[in-house]
Amino acid sequence: MEKMNNVTILEHPLIQHKISMLRDKNTGTNEFRKLVDEIAMLEGFIALADLPLEEVEVETPIETCMTPKIAGRKLAIVPILRAGLGMVSGILALVPSAKVGHIGLYRDEVTHEPHEYYCKLPNPIEERTIVVVDPMLATGGSAVDAVSMIKEHGGVNIKFMCIIAAPEGLKRLHEAHPDVQIYIGHLDRELNENAYICPGLGDAGDRIFGTK
Ligand code: PRP
Ligand code: URA
Repeated sequence: MEKMNNVTILEHPLIQHKISMLRDKNTGTNEFRKLVDEIAMLEGFIALADLPLEEVEVETPIETCMTPKIAGRKLAIVPILRAGLGMVSGILALVPSAKVGHIGLYRDEVTHEPHEYYCKLPNPIEERTIVVVDPMLATGGSAVDAVSMIKEHGGVNIKFMCIIAAPEGLKRLHEAHPDVQIYIGHLDRELNENAYICPGLGDAGDRIFGTK
């Protein structure tokens, strides 16, 4: 696949190791959730490298100085329900003061197109860095719609973070929203006839929440 602007495929060994554990069909719900949380934190560490800082005054045991702190109120995390919820706490561990919005989308089982059922975003959103999270970028329909909804509410500086992507979904998201910075844990081979990612990890929502 040709190199695309604004697309980062995270090749860190810790992320790759944890993704391999996620893929294993014998990994149970409890461990799966923990791994998603850890991967989100590792990805967030990289994806948030350009987070704005603000100088604050701190008194050290030696003297008073101006020193940078994360302008945490400037960050919003927006999980795509349901599976994106699994990635929120890992990023909140890094930036506890971030606001959290929610976008509810489900894929039609036949057409694989997303349907919206919920949208609640921090207000105002214009000034914030917005990190949309969803473990899976398959056809890209859900991610494209989620980013469009955020833009309709005034969001400008948008990142999309996933754990596994299919080439088809990456292309669709990048073409629809070339301004969005995309972070991917691993780029898999392809989609199958049911629009599942191969080799993938199955249905992320079901594996996180123990449903079927
Ligand atoms: C999954 C996943 C993404 C979407 C990806 O959610 O969490 O949101 O599919 O597929 P796409 O790129 O083809 O749109 P799903 O619709 O299964 O809902 P769930 O999280 O509630 O299980
Ligand atoms: N959603 C998932 O949870 N898994 C896939 O492989 C594709 C979409």
